[in-house]
Amino acid sequence: MKSNTPIIVKTFHGLETVLAEELKALGASNTRLLKRAVSCTGDLALIYRANYELRTALRVLIPIHTFEVSNERAYYRAVREVEWNQYLDVSGTLAVDAVLSGGIFRHSQYMALLTKDAIVDYYRDRYARRPNINPEAPHLRVHARIHGSKCTLLLDASGDSLHKRGYRRDTVEAPLNEVLAAGLVLLSGWNDTGPFVDPMCGSGTIAIEAALLAANIPPQRTRSSFGFFRWKNFDRKLWERVKAEADARVKQPIFPIYASDKEGRARNATAINLLSAGLEGLVQVQKIPFEKLSPPEAAGVLITNPPYDERLRLEDVACFYKVIGNRLKKAWSGWTAWIISSNREALNYIGLQPSQKMILYNGALECVFQKFELHKNDQRD
Ligand SMILES: C[S@@+](CC[C@H](N)C(=O)[O-])C[C@H]1O[C@@H](n2cnc3c(N)ncnc32)[C@H](O)[C@@H]1O
Repeated sequence: MKSNTPIIVKTFHGLETVLAEELKALGASNTRLLKRAVSCTGDLALIYRANYELRTALRVLIPIHTFEVSNERAYYRAVREVEWNQYLDVSGTLAVDAVLSGGIFRHSQYMALLTKDAIVDYYRDRYARRPNINPEAPHLRVHARIHGSKCTLLLDASGDSLHKRGYRRDTVEAPLNEVLAAGLVLLSGWNDTGPFVDPMCGSGTIAIEAALLAANIPPQRTRSSFGFFRWKNFDRKLWERVKAEADARVKQPIFPIYASDKEGRARNATAINLLSAGLEGLVQVQKIPFEKLSPPEAAGVLITNPPYDERLRLEDVACFYKVIGNRLKKAWSGWTAWIISSNREALNYIGLQPSQKMILYNGALECVFQKFELHKNDQRD
């Protein structure tokens, strides 16, 4: 692949800016913010690095052909014209998906089938044989993105979504997506710049992503395979070099990281996940309600994802968020607290003025991620 290969990296809404910063730090050129994605250019090493080291990436895609068509026949012909042989041998396996927006074409499943037919017919023409379909672990996964009449064919370098780091062995209620959790930590600006606490840690995702960041551990260190491993041009030596370089930058964090929860089950799940992430000893885990937790030391960052609990009556949730606010004011002065919740009404009961607000999505739920600077004069009682 050329040194200025176009690359598109997908992420969640609201994480585009931190993803672009991550890409620049890896050496990407021409970064541009898109909707739930960042585009850039780079070489094969950057594609490997992006998969291995990006914390806020969901998928790394390589656009190989962009064209405009106004009907299905023209679409089929345009897909069939691509020199697929440079990406996939006829004996290899293939998977195709399609995402549509805008008017002309109506059914994404049908467009995925049409794309697959066009690719398969390209091989039939030349070899009187065709690649087989393997939806799980194909040699080549092709995405068709069709926006109105504008179509792009992309190769998926990641395979499984990059949020699947491979460390999650146990979960309790409503675990955050790993990419979102890493995004929260990066958006807060914390990077081993002081003590870190998640006092309602659930399965520990936020504290684990914070520890991976603080220790410079590549987020995919425990993952065993990527889509590009099965590519025709897979350069094992280059991959091993990229991996070895990233692994060599692992360091001991300076500041402590704490995760706690009122439930013993959550403490246990967090401990298991920490162990499988190879982070034992880097995060101190405790079973304690937030109301009783005191800051471990002066001035740090607290990030937490309390229950949004739509099942509770508002008075209960309101009361719960009021307790959080009072505790922050009383015991956590000097700290910066970040809280993500989909329950805007409940967030008002924290009773502190947020200095920053960002809209993020936890699955389909629109959430607000709010920053609270806890000054001495916030203290009550
Ligand atoms: C939405 S879950 C957090 C999920 C977590 N971010 C993850 O990725 O797994 C909320 C957690 O808050 C905990 N919790 C609720 N009330 C609490 C309290 N008063 N003190 C400490 N933890 C509490 C629950 O036990 C639950 O594990």
